[in-house]
Amino acid sequence: MSKNILKHLAIIMDGNGRWAKERGFIRTKGHEKGAEVIRDITRYCAEHPTIETVTLYAFSTENWKRPKYEVEFLMKLLDSWLKKELPTYHEFGARFETVGNIEGFSPKLQKTIASIKEQTAHHTNVTQILALNYGSREEIAKAATRLANRHEAITEESLGNELNTPYTDIDLMVRTSGEQRLSNFLLWQLSYSEFFFTPTLWPDFSSQELDDIIDQYTNRERRFGGV
Ligand code: IPE
Ligand code: IPE
Ligand code: MG
Repeated sequence: MSKNILKHLAIIMDGNGRWAKERGFIRTKGHEKGAEVIRDITRYCAEHPTIETVTLYAFSTENWKRPKYEVEFLMKLLDSWLKKELPTYHEFGARFETVGNIEGFSPKLQKTIASIKEQTAHHTNVTQILALNYGSREEIAKAATRLANRHEAITEESLGNELNTPYTDIDLMVRTSGEQRLSNFLLWQLSYSEFFFTPTLWPDFSSQELDDIIDQYTNRERRFGGV
């Protein structure tokens, strides 16, 4: 059996709050530590011979339900983290992209996001897509509405292409922290993905563990409905 190629990896970065709580810290400490892990993962993906895209779930449309303090902290963290990481995007040859409703963020944060996208647009080692204010049901409903408004047929192909993430199908989806659900992440794009759930909390996750997961992925049998 030939080994599976991994082109598009998606990760639900979960468990920051529990990581902090276990150490007697406030939840936001976990977000700070979790943000640091992204660099190691981006480097790994940029250096990996076949990975072209890595999509990371950072903030869902449901995460607005959290306490105001935590939401505000996450917004500030994203802004400062992006600015701080610009040199590493350049170092790794990583292009920064987003999916989700960026318009829901402050003008300042939107400006930072646009600027990092622009400054990394020429990089080709890997595209890192942060899912920000992202909800898959909303993405699908809006795509269908746009097609309907243009009086276009809604087919698998047209709807798939109309999504805000028409990049490529996702090969492997990893969720940290032991939760085994999708939490409104990429429902359409994950139709035939391989899933991997690890109990490791996101701040403790590393490229070594990812490498081990990918190794297992390459040896799984993907049938796509065939025999
Ligand atoms: C994931 O960690 C980060 C975000 C959703 C922003 P959580 O904050 O969900 O951590 P837990 O699940 O409460 O441990
Ligand atoms: C999903 O995690 C969203 C992100 C990791 C950004 P949540 O922690 O919000 O998901 P639930 O509430 O446990 O399903
Ligand atoms: Mg969580």
